[in-house]
Amino acid sequence: MQKYRVADLGKYVGQEVELKGWLYNKRDIGKVRFILVRDGSGIVQGVMVKNNLPEEVWNKFDNLTLETSLIVRGKVREEKRAPGGYELDVTDIEIFQIADGYPITKKSHGVEFLMDHRHLWLRSKKQWAIMRIRDEIQSAIMDFLREQGFVRIDAPILTSSAAEGTTTLFEVDYHGDKAYLSQSGQLYMEAAAMAHGKVYCFGPAFRAEKSKTRRHLLEFWMVEPEMAWVTFEENLEIQEHMVSYIVERVLKNRRNELEILERPIEALEKVKPPFPRITYDEAIEMLKKSGDPELEKIEWGEDFGAPHETYISNQFDKPVFVTHFPTKMKAFYMQPDPNRPEVVLAADLLAPEGYGEIIGGSERIYDYELLKQRIKEWGLPEEDYQWYLDLRKYGTVPHSGFGLGLERTVAWIAKLPHIRETIPFPRMLHRMVP
Ligand code: 4AD
Ligand code: MG
Repeated sequence: MQKYRVADLGKYVGQEVELKGWLYNKRDIGKVRFILVRDGSGIVQGVMVKNNLPEEVWNKFDNLTLETSLIVRGKVREEKRAPGGYELDVTDIEIFQIADGYPITKKSHGVEFLMDHRHLWLRSKKQWAIMRIRDEIQSAIMDFLREQGFVRIDAPILTSSAAEGTTTLFEVDYHGDKAYLSQSGQLYMEAAAMAHGKVYCFGPAFRAEKSKTRRHLLEFWMVEPEMAWVTFEENLEIQEHMVSYIVERVLKNRRNELEILERPIEALEKVKPPFPRITYDEAIEMLKKSGDPELEKIEWGEDFGAPHETYISNQFDKPVFVTHFPTKMKAFYMQPDPNRPEVVLAADLLAPEGYGEIIGGSERIYDYELLKQRIKEWGLPEEDYQWYLDLRKYGTVPHSGFGLGLERTVAWIAKLPHIRETIPFPRMLHRMVP
């Protein structure tokens, strides 16, 4: 274990410390040599002064290739100009392994090359910053939900039925039977909500997406809260508070990482409840008046594509809820609007800056007969949903929930052009290595 970490150097000013890490970069200006050492928690510059070092230590510099693993000792000095605010006056270097010629260099590489080297690319500064933002978002979600009284319940990954449409199912051989990788834990959370009131699952979800886009992964992570006795409007309130809390936490604890990514923070600072709400009808109207002939072609009843979502979200400087979608467009379990059964009590939350949908949620059908009818209409095998129907037989209650896609949220908050950098090892069409 490391006793000292770069992130904590401020505690050791004037003291001798030992850092265990990797060589990030080096620079030679004659009688002084600089080594940038990263240890996972940050990067520090070590200063080697020829006159102060035994020759044997001074000469080790020549062997240091990029990513060489090493232990460096030295005295911590405050240095206002250094990133992080501290430097190390090197007294000793111990080389653990001299790294082979490192494939990722300062020159720019194509994204396919970088993705082929994802196992190494994760060490780069921007990728490091993205993973730390992802981690903060995950922690913020769990802290928020715990604080609100939710219980975390794990949903199965191997499932017997579709939760979100049959077209994106990943089939698995289950000892001769058919099973599917979970598209969503929601149906199981509905069962758990009847046991605990407020629950959530947070795990991987699988969709056999057949198109290549900037927003779709075949494996992504989703948090899915589900709440008994909660109706449509309250569901939206929880969502806007959760999303605002996530953003606040990243602004508080991951400022340095946002700076590394050159992510302007003004836009994030505006993310506070309440979020605007527009109906699907209003969204269609908006698109029809957009002045863009492509967007104006949309007809009531059609789903939004990425350009539609981008246009709508660009009209607001906060995330925006689009509500009351046509029933036919959405999932079988959604509660119809009692005043207008052709639309459902569902909402998507679109992130600002053109990022599109980050949350899908709804009130669920609680009536046994209606749910049974929908299962039939959607062409789903009733026997697979018998347990789910049971929930409507034994003390049914109004209930609602939502699913927030972790990677879409990271992409927006970190302002990344593509979802592939938001997850350590992305699974996409034509990519599952490394
Ligand atoms: O809108 P979706 O499909 O909703 C559900 O799965 C519900 N069962 C959730 C619930 O109510 N418990 O997916 C929810 C979110 C989307 O808004 C998006 O952020 C993300 O999951 N998502 C994806 N992210 C990356 N790649 C994909 N292929 C995604 N599909 C959905
Ligand atoms: Mg959706």
